[in-house]
Amino acid sequence: MGFREIFGILPEATAQAPGRVNLLGEHTDYQEGYVLPSPLPYLTQVEAARAEGRVEAYSETLRELRARPLGSPPQGDFLDYLLGVVWALGEAGHPVEGARFYVRSDLPMGAGLSSSAALEVAALRALRALYRLPLSDLELALLAQRAEAEYVGVRCGLMDQMASSLGRVGQALFLDTRTLAYENLPLPPGTRVAVLDLGLKRRLAEGAYNERRQEAEEAARRLGVRALRDVADLCLVESLPSPLDRRARHIVGENLRVLRGVEALRRGDARAFGELMTQSHRSLSRDYEVSLPELDALVEEALQAGALGAKLTGAGFGGAVVALVPEGEWRAFKDRLEARLAGLKIL
Ligand code: GLA
Repeated sequence: MGFREIFGILPEATAQAPGRVNLLGEHTDYQEGYVLPSPLPYLTQVEAARAEGRVEAYSETLRELRARPLGSPPQGDFLDYLLGVVWALGEAGHPVEGARFYVRSDLPMGAGLSSSAALEVAALRALRALYRLPLSDLELALLAQRAEAEYVGVRCGLMDQMASSLGRVGQALFLDTRTLAYENLPLPPGTRVAVLDLGLKRRLAEGAYNERRQEAEEAARRLGVRALRDVADLCLVESLPSPLDRRARHIVGENLRVLRGVEALRRGDARAFGELMTQSHRSLSRDYEVSLPELDALVEEALQAGALGAKLTGAGFGGAVVALVPEGEWRAFKDRLEARLAGLKIL
């Protein structure tokens, strides 16, 4: 199957974009904080051609063809992301007449690896080429996030789309989500990043994500700051009532961990970086309460198997674990985990 079989014409543009893991800086991007994601060598690829007045798309993974006129409301399927980016372009003063897409991807869906951001960024890259739009990669990421937050209706932060659009595979993207300053940094030398996927489907993810956002906003309001990014002293959070004190402690501590992690990357200190990842997981589990017993157990298994650090990646409530593994121990790490955990996929 391909574009030509589905649509009867040849594609006019091809583009791709990666998913990501997040190494440090979880649940900080909606409080103007720091994040440190790394794009994965797993991609979503789109072939595209222009169309009049509608968006049509075929997903190879879902084996589904969908089509709706421009201006249609979201319907809860994968076409929403594509209509969403077309909508966001129009809102930003770059109206496009429509498009056809053929979508293929080797990114697992629902594993917290940003398959939706990869689809949005790949589609925007194809539309930029098709319609010769004068858009930078940074503008593309902002449009992709706007599509997801305002059209699809998932109130995400900026991390995933920025990682997909601006990151480099094999590096970490240090991003300040307030100023949008960013820098690509090398991963710790002599290590490999492992993504451990037990296929844990997200449970109650969206409602709980929005609840955490509201708690964080309430904590910032009570502390009298624009965002929790502005709290540098961890002691200040102790004055908040429970559970806002724990929620704020996670975010304030997590921003510090990103800054320390960046220092560790600059001096090539894999051990220190790994420890910060594990601290991040403990904070996400105990203070932010977005983990699951299965994710906590998987983190412990990874550490026992020789990882320098491990944490859940993405929003939590399911999804995958990311671990930092010394190159020399990769084989033993993989063998041990595969022997102990049936159904585990190591990416
Ligand atoms: C999801 C969101 C991101 C970010 C993470 C948590 O992946 O899309 O914006 O908030 O959760 O770090």
